[in-house]
Amino acid sequence: MKIVVVGLGYLGATHAACMAELGHDVLGLETDVTRLEALRAGRVPFYEPELEVLLQSTLESGKLRVTQSYQEAADWGDAFFIAVGTPQRKGEYAADLRYVESVIEELVPLIQRDCVIFGKSTVPVGTCARLADRAAELAKDVVVEVAWNPEFLREGHAVQDTLRPDRLVLGTDAEGGLAVVYAQTIYKSLLESGIPFLVMDCASAELVKVAANAFLATKISFINAIAEVSEAAGADVNRIAEAIGYDERIGNKFLKAGIGFGGGCLPKDIRAFMARAGELGAAEALGFLREVDNINMRRRNRVVDIAKKSCRGSLLNKKIAVLGAAFKPNSDDVRDSPALNIAGQMQLQGSTVVVYDPKAMENSKRLFPTLEYASSVADACDNADLVMVLTEWGEFTEIDPIRLREVVREATVVDGRFCLDRDRWVSAGWTYHA
Ligand SMILES: NC(=O)c1ccc[n+]([C@@H]2O[C@H](COP(=O)([O-])OP(=O)(O)OC[C@H]3O[C@@H](n4cnc5c(N)ncnc54)[C@H](O)[C@@H]3O)[C@@H](O)[C@H]2O)c1
Repeated sequence: MKIVVVGLGYLGATHAACMAELGHDVLGLETDVTRLEALRAGRVPFYEPELEVLLQSTLESGKLRVTQSYQEAADWGDAFFIAVGTPQRKGEYAADLRYVESVIEELVPLIQRDCVIFGKSTVPVGTCARLADRAAELAKDVVVEVAWNPEFLREGHAVQDTLRPDRLVLGTDAEGGLAVVYAQTIYKSLLESGIPFLVMDCASAELVKVAANAFLATKISFINAIAEVSEAAGADVNRIAEAIGYDERIGNKFLKAGIGFGGGCLPKDIRAFMARAGELGAAEALGFLREVDNINMRRRNRVVDIAKKSCRGSLLNKKIAVLGAAFKPNSDDVRDSPALNIAGQMQLQGSTVVVYDPKAMENSKRLFPTLEYASSVADACDNADLVMVLTEWGEFTEIDPIRLREVVREATVVDGRFCLDRDRWVSAGWTYHA
């Protein structure tokens, strides 16, 4: 099966390399020339553990190639995966579908044999059916089926999640069509290893993805809401999370209080989900997601308040070291990063904010060029009035608080992720806030 993956970002580059690793011939199609050239040279233009090794080996074996040409892709492929972005529309909650739509517009008129286009991007329910109609209009004497195969990979674990997913979901409305057979062929080795394969209609498949993300966001905001109450009551949210997490019906994952979620998926996906529910006349059903979003955004303000209090009521002329910029560890993704949002807020209140992140420095500089950046933990903390840990990188949890104390002006730390060993920091002479 010759597979084309359109859009080689976090999702598409991973999918392309992993499909080649599974033994398929894969052609990656990317319109951003800088990104394309980096990939062609075996360099992943973002940070994702394990991906670069896989990219290089599959390029070397010839199983994976990359191109900028829609014509080449259309002439060559049997199955096409759409992995382009679906960001939040500016000034609105809804998803911007222009990239997904442009793939159909550009690709389908060039296709000369029956094929399946599998959507992987996260889209509002109803998109697949609409794109299928449009593909039927654009197709020239061939059958171009459009199916949806949502992706659940986590950045930082993308390769493992693609090669060993919890489940595979396929949405198709074409009775007796090609999509199921093609998907079974493409994912043969995964299915043989017992990974659940759920086939359903397109609308359900689209909703599986956004429902999963809405649930995860809700779980994080739930424990953060409990954190607000715990703080007011003088209770310990971590002990509460630990205790309720033992209940199998609740589970302990995604139950960690802190500065909340961010990144290129959860925030925009829950907003697009609310917008779509509104269009469908079901806004009331998802009203709670607005509160999930509010609780999440409140965390960012709350940690700024904590920082202010620990600087005796004012951030003016304080030097603040912000450790962490990526929205989570093992990623360089700074899209809607809580850490950078907080850093920006503190700068606006008059502090000099110096940021250090093990992998996300370049992306952060592009997004927040006015913050200051350091090349190490010690550099960032040099003469700092306050140290804030806002992304739980291993490098930060392993900091020696005794040695770090020697470089700061004030030994005060705010742990935005509950990732530091409080007792260790306190016994090293630090004032610890979380
Ligand atoms: N990043 C994740 O962890 C993740 C996980 C699951 C699902 N998703 C979903 O996958 C989609 C992609 O997300 P991402 O994080 O990989 O985005 P991304 O911005 O990193 O990558 C998108 C890529 O598509 C390219 N592109 C845009 N238009 C194109 C076109 N017409 N033809 C060819 N290439 C084009 C862009 O240049 C870019 O390289 C989104 O819908 C996202 O919600 C992402």
